[in-house]
Amino acid sequence: MKKKIIVGNWKMNPVTVEEAKKISKTTRGLAQKLNSVKVVICPPFVYIPVVSNTRVESPVSLGTQDIYHELQGAYTGEVSPLMLKDFGVEYVIVGHSEKRSKGQTDEMISKKVQLLLENNMSPILCIGEKERKEDGSHLDFLKEQIKNSLNKVPKKNISKLIIAYEPVWAIGAKEAMAPNDIYEMSIFIKKVLSDLYGHDEAVSTSILYGGSVNFRNAPEIFIKGQIDGLLVGRESVNIAGFTELLKTIDTL
Ligand code: PGA
Repeated sequence: MKKKIIVGNWKMNPVTVEEAKKISKTTRGLAQKLNSVKVVICPPFVYIPVVSNTRVESPVSLGTQDIYHELQGAYTGEVSPLMLKDFGVEYVIVGHSEKRSKGQTDEMISKKVQLLLENNMSPILCIGEKERKEDGSHLDFLKEQIKNSLNKVPKKNISKLIIAYEPVWAIGAKEAMAPNDIYEMSIFIKKVLSDLYGHDEAVSTSILYGGSVNFRNAPEIFIKGQIDGLLVGRESVNIAGFTELLKTIDTL
């Protein structure tokens, strides 16, 4: 059976290395006991060497929150996918709305997705509308976003692709999207993928939901939303909440 994927996007948290170690240690300890959940943590770059251990098999996989769209060269302040791979990073969140709002374009995002897949890493491609429109035009927006973000990715390379549907209005909000709406959106995304790459590829691509997920709403989102996993922001650095979330999802 395919494992449920829970990705923790730590964002710019915590602010001390001690806290980072604590969150990662607790998550690791718990992940060891889970049967049906794959846990991925995405700390800020500077904590990667602290939480990574390339010598031992870890129950928690490592990811980051972004990457540069080139492999090497004169790009001041940037980090290459190859550098991360060397530290055991397997997943990279790409196109998060908090990065898109700072000027990241579909063109750059598509290059990142392409580079990651070519280097045998998993992009967690974030897509999502800013608002839901009565006339359904947000669906056209999403379709374009998916097409543009994947336009450099040939069918033969997509097996490691993960899509995270994160409606922008639900990120950092009080409430998540209604589970029935999440279900509808995941079907829509599969349809777009199927038109682009074919039915089998669409079915095998994992779709995650993200936006105000916590330990209370996670089970219903999972069951009614019929998604393959969750991208969790705030709750992933709240040790008690994340522990509870992982334990409950494991029982589903
Ligand atoms: P949130 O963030 O869970 O804090 O809403 C989710 C995300 O931005 O990935």
